[in-house]
Amino acid sequence: MVMTIDTPVDFAYDPYSEEALRDPTDLYRVLRQRYPAYPLPQYDAWALSRFDDVWEVGEDGERFVMDAGPVYNPADLARRNAGAPARKPLDPMPSFSRIDPPVQTALRQGLVAPLRPHAVGLLEEKVRTLARQRLDELVSKGEFDLYTDYGGVVSAGVMAIVMGLPIELAPRILELVNQALRRKPPGAVEDAVTGRAGLELHMMLVDVVAHRRIQGPTGDGYAAIDGMLSTELDGRALTDDEIAVQLFTVLSGGTETVPKVVARCLLELSRRPDQLAAVRENVATNCRLAFEETMRYGAPLQHVGRTATLDVEIAGAQIRAGQRVFLLIPSANRDEREFANPDEFIWNRSMERHFAFGHGLHFCIGVHVARLEGRVLLEELLRRVPSYEIDESRSLMPPSDFQIGYTNMPILVL
Ligand code: HEM
Repeated sequence: MVMTIDTPVDFAYDPYSEEALRDPTDLYRVLRQRYPAYPLPQYDAWALSRFDDVWEVGEDGERFVMDAGPVYNPADLARRNAGAPARKPLDPMPSFSRIDPPVQTALRQGLVAPLRPHAVGLLEEKVRTLARQRLDELVSKGEFDLYTDYGGVVSAGVMAIVMGLPIELAPRILELVNQALRRKPPGAVEDAVTGRAGLELHMMLVDVVAHRRIQGPTGDGYAAIDGMLSTELDGRALTDDEIAVQLFTVLSGGTETVPKVVARCLLELSRRPDQLAAVRENVATNCRLAFEETMRYGAPLQHVGRTATLDVEIAGAQIRAGQRVFLLIPSANRDEREFANPDEFIWNRSMERHFAFGHGLHFCIGVHVARLEGRVLLEELLRRVPSYEIDESRSLMPPSDFQIGYTNMPILVL
C-alpha cells in the first residue's frame, strides 16, 4: 500500500543538525523503527535507514542515479528537480564517482587494473614494509598518533605507489587530501586552503600523467594512468586534466578513510580487553575480521545520495521522480533486521554483507586495497606493541557533514 508520509511532529531528523553531526546513533534507531523513509522536504529528499531499502537503492542504477551526489553539498539541495534529473554535462568531465553509466563504467574500467585482487595481493609486502618502517620510527617514542603518524602516512604511501607518485610525498599527500576534503558544516569549505590543496594535488597528478604520456607504457606499475591513457570516450582520448580528475578521486578515497577505520578498531578493542586478547591470539587471521566488524560498526561515511528517475515506492513512501534519497550507511549497518545485536562490537562477527563499501554500480573500487591495508596495519601494530592505551581526551574528529571519523588519535605504548 502506498502511503503519503507527513513530517512527524514528535521527532525531528535533519542530516545536517548538530545532533546528527555529533552522534546520530539514537536518531538512526528511531528512524529505523518508526520512519524507515523519513521526509526531508527542505531538501526535496527522503532519508532511508533500513538495510534492505538502502541495499535496494544502491543496487538499482536505473531508478536511482547520481545527480548532486554521492556526497551532497547542502547548498545543492536547495535546487529542486522537476522530474527526472537531466543527464550531467560531461564538459568539463566530472569524476566518475559523480556520474552514471556508460561513461562511469568506461572510466572505472580504465582505472581498475591496479585495484583488482591479484594486483592488490602483490602490494602486500610493500604495505607491510611501509607499516614496519613507520613503527620502527614511532614505537620507541612511547607515544604517537595513530592517524597522522601511522595509518595515514601508510595509506598515502600506498596510494602514491598505485598512482606512480614518489613515495616521499606520502606525508604531503595526506595533508593535502585532508585539507582539500575539509567540510565545515553545513557544506564544503571553499576557501583558500582547500582550493590551494586541491589544486596542488591536481597539478601533481597532471604532471605524472604528462610524463607518462611522453614516456609510454613500460609495464612497470602505473596501471591506473596507463588504463586512463588508453581509454577513449566518443572516439577521443582523455586529456591530462580529465585523467587527473579521475585519479584524484581514487587518491583521496584511498588516503583518508582506511586509517580512520584502523584507529577506530584499535579504540574499540582497547575498550574491550577480552576481545583485544582474543584478536592477539592469532593476529595473522584475526585482524581481517576485526577490521570488517569495525567497518560495519563504525565506518565514518554517514550517507551517500541518489536521485529517483521515476516515481517509486520504497519503505511505504511514494518517492517522486527527481527527489533525492539519503542512504544512511551506519544506520543500515546497525539494522536489527539484518544483524543480531547490532549495537555490539563483536570482533569475529559472522556476516554475509554490510553497506560500508556501498553496493551496486558505485561499489567501492578500492575495497581490496582497503581490506589489505586495514588488516596489515592492525597486524603490524599489534605485533609490535604488546600493550597500549588510547588517549580519548586528545582524539579529534574534525567537523564534517558527511563523515564521523578520527583524524587524530594518540596511542601510548605501555
Ligand atoms: C575503509 C575505507 C573505505 C571506505 C569506508 C569506503 C567507502 C566507500 C563507499 C561507501 C563507496 C560508495 C559510494 C557510492 O555509493 O556512491 C565508495 C566508493 C569509492 N571508493 Fe571507497 N572506501 C574506502 C576505501 C577506499 C580506497 C582504499 C579507495 C582507493 C584505492 C577508494 C576509492 C573509492 C572510489 C574511487 C569510489 C567511487 C567508485 C564509483 O563511483 O564507481 N575507497 N567507497
